[in-house]
Amino acid sequence: MTSPLALAQVTYEVPDLDLQERFLTDFGLVRAARTEDALYMRGAGAAHHIHVSRRADRQGFVGASFEMATRADLEILARFPEASPVRPASEPGGGEEVVMHTPDGVEIRAIFGRATQPPLPTRAPNGFNNSIEKGRVDASVRWQGHPNGWQPQTIGQDTWQRRLKPCEALRLGHFVLHVRNHDETVRWFQMRFGLLASDYFLPTGEVGPVVGTFLRFDHGATPVDHHVLLVLQSNWVGVHHCSFEVADLDAIMGAHEYLLARGWTLDCGIGRHMLGSQIFDYWKDPFGFRVEHYTDGDVATADYVPTRYNGTASQTTQWGMEPSLDFFQ
Ligand SMILES: [Fe+2]
Repeated sequence: MTSPLALAQVTYEVPDLDLQERFLTDFGLVRAARTEDALYMRGAGAAHHIHVSRRADRQGFVGASFEMATRADLEILARFPEASPVRPASEPGGGEEVVMHTPDGVEIRAIFGRATQPPLPTRAPNGFNNSIEKGRVDASVRWQGHPNGWQPQTIGQDTWQRRLKPCEALRLGHFVLHVRNHDETVRWFQMRFGLLASDYFLPTGEVGPVVGTFLRFDHGATPVDHHVLLVLQSNWVGVHHCSFEVADLDAIMGAHEYLLARGWTLDCGIGRHMLGSQIFDYWKDPFGFRVEHYTDGDVATADYVPTRYNGTASQTTQWGMEPSLDFFQ
């Protein structure tokens, strides 16, 4: 068993790389590399790239990659029967990889030694003065991405330029898989990557079986995201969505207005989830895949005890837009 450092990337096949790049740029990602056959997009963090689109005749989900802590982790994973040997990675950034496939055939890569890039300059999160803690003192919120105008405003000594722009997608946080055998797939990930269950999802009024498990990394006492992966029992195989963290609520709201103004398709948002607590905003990429902005998600140590949650898809929203009943189907 290993313990990955992070979720490294999600990988898709799409028929039009130009269209995909236009959308992902508006969504807040930045081109890291582009070849005739593939598009590599990065976030503002140091990861070389976090979203990959390969050119293909029709769209599809390929899989995801985990960044491992050591080369020895790759050697451990290469011993599993369906795994490739440790081999040089084929993508920009280099390093080495082991390629595996889940029981449903979804490609999962473990990578080590990929080059990093200098982080991009980003806006610092806006301090939020709640009713008790008011840490923003002698300072004002100035969201630089508001789309409703171009007029410079003079405030004191500052000129504030309102302008349209994408948010900054900082990093890849999690992805969600539809699988044919929930229990087998959860075990598959746990045996290879040591993932811990954060919460179990069951339909309303039922005591079992579990149809969804939120999984997180085991980094001991160091808090990690509530989930890096959600495994959902389904009658089809593929990705439900992938999700990218942004700085704060202003980033979510600004991106929402910007993506609407650019004519892209809203899926569900803005709202706050139940399990994981994220403030979410789901969009559809040009090929029908859901991509999510999120902020203010739960983090948990290895001590967190999973809960069992009964509910429908729409009941997974605490406030804001409720997904339709077929959201998870
Ligand atoms: Fe999500």
